[in-house]
Amino acid sequence: MPTHTFVLNGEQVSVDVDDNVRLLWVLRDLLGVKGPKYGCGLEVCRACTSHINGKGFNPCSVPVGDIQPTDEITTIEGLPATVGKDLHPMQEAWLDVDVAQCGYCQPGQIMTAVALVKAKGGALTEADFDAIRNICRCGTYHRIREAINEGAANM
Ligand code: FES
Ligand code: FES
Repeated sequence: MPTHTFVLNGEQVSVDVDDNVRLLWVLRDLLGVKGPKYGCGLEVCRACTSHINGKGFNPCSVPVGDIQPTDEITTIEGLPATVGKDLHPMQEAWLDVDVAQCGYCQPGQIMTAVALVKAKGGALTEADFDAIRNICRCGTYHRIREAINEGAANM
């Protein structure tokens, strides 16, 4: 079985697994990183959203064989360390606004928000918000928008 090496939340990890296993299952089942959630496995719900080299992506749709040794994967667990704090400003905003209901979609929502604010270089427009595809079955969308605005102002 091939060995795959990459950087996960700032630390190099190696795992023996077939090339075609999707990264989400490598993270959750083999490496015990459960922040990225499994919703659809089809790059639709976005519950698994994490970052690769600072950009948002969905590990349910990426075979581990496509991941390079130099790739830096960040999950919600590693997000605070990217700013050297106990919580990322976007997480602080999420708590301020009390966004979560059941919570299942929320790691993915936060990781999408951080990647999008970084990509846009600041505050998001209504069109940016409308383009977010993360599903929340509890319907917390209004609070998500409020928290992203607050988090973006503090990033
Ligand atoms: S589980 Fe990855 S997008 Fe739904
Ligand atoms: S908080 Fe329940 S799915 Fe979003």
